Parts: sequence; structure tokens; C-alpha cells
Amino acid sequence: MTDLSKAGADQISAALAEAKTAYGQIRGRNLAFDMTRGKPSAAQLDLADALLTNVDHDDVVGTDAGDLRNYGGLAGIPACRKLFGEYLGVPADQVVIGGNSSLQLMYGTLARCMTFGVVGGEGPWRGQNPTVICPVPGYDRHFAACEELGIKMVTVGMTGEGPDMDAVEELVASDPSIKAIWCVPKYSNPTGETYSDETVDRLAKMKTAAPDFRILWDNAYAVHHLGEGLDEVKDIMAACEVAGCPDRPFVFGSTSKITYAGAGIAVFAGSPANVKDTLDHLFFETIGPDKINQLRQVKFFGDMKGLLAHMDEHAALIGPKFKAVDEALTRHLTGKGIATWTKPKGGYFVSLDVLDGCAKEVIRLADEAGVKLTPAGSCYPYGDDPNDRNIRLAPTLPPLDEVKQAMEVVCACIELACLNKLAEGAD
Ligand SMILES: Cc1ncc(COP(=O)(O)O)c(C=O)c1O
Repeated sequence: MTDLSKAGADQISAALAEAKTAYGQIRGRNLAFDMTRGKPSAAQLDLADALLTNVDHDDVVGTDAGDLRNYGGLAGIPACRKLFGEYLGVPADQVVIGGNSSLQLMYGTLARCMTFGVVGGEGPWRGQNPTVICPVPGYDRHFAACEELGIKMVTVGMTGEGPDMDAVEELVASDPSIKAIWCVPKYSNPTGETYSDETVDRLAKMKTAAPDFRILWDNAYAVHHLGEGLDEVKDIMAACEVAGCPDRPFVFGSTSKITYAGAGIAVFAGSPANVKDTLDHLFFETIGPDKINQLRQVKFFGDMKGLLAHMDEHAALIGPKFKAVDEALTRHLTGKGIATWTKPKGGYFVSLDVLDGCAKEVIRLADEAGVKLTPAGSCYPYGDDPNDRNIRLAPTLPPLDEVKQAMEVVCACIELACLNKLAEGAD
């Protein structure tokens, strides 16, 4: 395969003519596919349909948590806290069960940091010029929450085993306004990488100028493998305990991509002091969460073994879609010097880097050919990818055959956009 990034002008112009023809043919097919967001497919949601019928009157009245139809139970029902304590590797009394969205818990947590401050801190973050470290590429909604709340963002790169810890340590060491870091420790969104033990240890041990520094540990993909088994991530709560900063991590998760994306349950975990502080504030937000849904989810899984077995069924559905993405990229682009991409073992995304200055154009071309991709720059704060290089592919929602067809379009668009760019340079 010719490395187009090193090819001469004649070769580029011949390849460009071919790429234009290929794109023209694909555009003529009138396709309409959506790979914008990491949503589960209908087939994945169907796997959890027992949730629609698995509790009745006798299950919800007179339980050890009282009548689940009524108010109360701010921290969640004991069975649910126990299961998700196991899920997150913490004691049940360090778990708070929220509503259906972990994003809501994260947003609420940050909003409370801004308004009230945190345990061990010096009052509300608002007024302290708070800045959050954002490893990039990362999750757009983490960045959007910061933006909305008026929290500044500073980026660091990802290394393949988590954030660039040299850069993180330097940032936190001297600047007390650096208050937190976003982390998606397993099968990160969108790179799919899992943090190494060393990364976890360094996050726990690093000296921070801010006495109230927090790790926003969004373990959204803790059990979401693609068929080759689960990665392990070192326990951040234990590491911080050993390092003498037990209040540093705020841990989040949810069953959004385990049962129903719109009707799962979200969880928060932290040190006893963080849990108490969170509950003291949640008291003013709600008289109690949806405990019936908590029971539904617990009954559905039974235990952690049941939950993990359920995730094997998800892997059987989505694993082949990720293989199809990699197969198309490999077949069309290997050795051409115009694109690199991740090969995740879990999570919901493939992170694709094209030639600098080409991501927006690839996405525009794909849109015109009927394939909607996540907008360029989405994985960066303020939607600004400084190199206009990164594209997030989300193959879980469309059926396998559509993923295959969509990837033919994406590959044709990458070739056309990158060859156009190279042709400009060769003029
Ligand atoms: C890293 C990450 N965190 C959180 C979420 C959303 O979680 P929830 O549905 O629990 O709000 C997503 C969804 O894509 C995600 O990728």
C-alpha cells in the first residue's frame, strides 16, 4: 500500500481522481445512517426487558427498606447499595444510588462544589477561579458540564494508559485553582484505553496545591467488554486511602449501558465523609429516589455474577460491530499514512485520527453521503480540536450491516478529504 503522506504530486492526483469517483458512487446510494452517539441498540435494550415485569405488589411493600412506593430511602435500598458496592469495590454504606443518570450525579456534584465547596476545602469553588483538568480526547458532556457551570478547563493528552501524568502532576503541584480531573478509567471515552496501575497510583499520590482536589472517577464502562474478557483497573479509593487522601475520589457509574439507557440507575461512591456530605446536600434536592427501579435492577441481575453474565450477552451483540469498524479501516487505510485508530477491548467508541486539518471535512463529506458522525471537535473542551484531527466513531446503535455500509462511506470520505489536503500541499 502506498504511503500517501509521502507520495509525489502525480501519485496524489491519480489517487485523488480515484477517490472522487469512489465518493461519487457512494453518494449516489442515498444512505441514511447514524453513528453520532454511543447509544445501545434496540437488541441490547431487549436483553433487559424482564425489567418491565419483574416486580409486583408483594415485592415492593413491607421490604427491609419499607414500602418502596413511598418517599424516603435517600441513599438507596440496602440490596442495591450492596450490589453496586460490589460493582465499584466499596462497602455498601459508601454508595449512594441516584436517579437514572450518572451524568446528572456528576453535574450535581460539580454544582455543589461550586456553590458549597467540598470536605476539607476552603469554601465554594466559585470565586476561586476553579479549573478542571480534561484529558483529551475525552467525553463531550464532561466538558459541557464544566462550561455550563463556569469552570475553566485545561487539557492534557492521553497516553494509551491514561492521562499524561507528567503533565497532570506539573499542573496540580503549583496551582491551587486546579481543583479536579476528569477520568474515565476503563475503556475510556473515546480512546478505549484503560488506566495502568502506575497511572492510578500517581493520581492518588500526587501532591496537589489545592487541599480540596478531587478525582472525578467516571467508571461508566466498568463491565463493558467486547468479547475478550474484562480489563482490570486498580482501585482508586483504596489507592487514595493508602496515600492518605481518602476524600480525593468521587466515583460514578450507572447501568445506562447495562440495562436501559433511559431507565437504569446511577451510583455515586466516596469516602464516608464524602458520602455524608453528599447526602446532607441531596436531602434538599429530593425526598428519595425511585426505589422500585432499584429493586427491579437488583432482581434482574441477582448478583455480580448475573450482571457479568448479562454483559457477555451485550459483548456478543456489539463485539462484531467493533470488528467490522476495524476491518474496514484496516482494509482501506492501512499503510496509507492518512489515519490511525484505536482497537478497543471495551467501551462504546473507536477514536480515529486523520491527517491534521481533515476531521471536519471528513465529517461533512460523510454527512452529505448520508452517514452522520459525531461533530468534529466534540471530544475536546469547547468543541475545539486544535489539530482538527480526531473523529469519534460510535458503532453500537446501527445494525451490523449498516455499520459495515457506513464504514465504507467513512473510509471513502477519509481518502477524499486527506487526498484533497495532500493535493493542496503538493501544488
Ligand atoms: C464516560 C461516560 N460517562 C457517562 C455517560 C452517561 O451516563 P448516564 O447515562 O449514566 O448519565 C456516558 C455516556 O455516553 C459516558 O460515555
